[in-house]
Amino acid sequence: MPQFDVSRIVRETFVRQVDYHPVVDSTNTKAAEWAKCGKALLPLLVLADRQTAGRGRGTNRWWTGEGSLAFSLLIDESWMPRSSCQFPMLGLATGIAVVEVMQRFLQGHCVDLLWPNDVVVADRKLGGILVEGDSRRFTVIGVGVNVNNSLRDAPADLQPLAVSVLDLTGLKDDLTGILIGILRRLEIELKVLRDDKGFKHRPPYCLPQNEPVQISGEEGISTGICRGIRSDGAIVVETADGMRSVHARSIQFGSAAQ
Ligand code: BTN
Repeated sequence: MPQFDVSRIVRETFVRQVDYHPVVDSTNTKAAEWAKCGKALLPLLVLADRQTAGRGRGTNRWWTGEGSLAFSLLIDESWMPRSSCQFPMLGLATGIAVVEVMQRFLQGHCVDLLWPNDVVVADRKLGGILVEGDSRRFTVIGVGVNVNNSLRDAPADLQPLAVSVLDLTGLKDDLTGILIGILRRLEIELKVLRDDKGFKHRPPYCLPQNEPVQISGEEGISTGICRGIRSDGAIVVETADGMRSVHARSIQFGSAAQ
């Protein structure tokens, strides 16, 4: 039985075409194929019940257990930020959309964005985002969220690192409803980013400029005053030793950072 109501998705979101697969290698790969053939109605949603070769950032793989949410949105330049140096922010915009929607389904738990695009609950991965695109014309936004799958069925090395809604609540949720919620929120975030409506200044996941931050990143921990975000997504911090650009894994703001 199909896990998603495709006509409801088209009716209730900005998506104009849905390519739904019971099984596919990777929805991001499929969306990139659609981009190359040039025949998709955009925004196009590639959706799958299962992926056999789901991809994560770098060399990571993405496990797509039965009941999880895995999709890719193919957008063209009309949905992208005007300035190409803002492209790295697409992942952050998507992360914000996923966090805000998943928080509604996980009351009593704190859903966090590990800046810029890991969605976590108590340090375990609930979702991940993979934005890909090789030209100014098309971008693929891939999202995986552990919803009705259980990490008990995952490869052993993943089990302590990730978590699902089912594992946290013991309940199964409406996958179509969650997907529609994320797509609607994402539409808003993409518009804010595209139209440059103060995206960087929105709390709590975006960075409050000129306020204290403590950032744990690949480069260690930096404490200082947040001076903005570079176009590659690095955060600029004024520390006691001068300006540093940090690719953040996690951030603390305000008094927690002092
Ligand atoms: C990461 O955490 O490194 C990113 C994971 C992204 C996974 C999603 S699932 C849907 C889409 N298709 C893929 O092959 N990957 C993304």
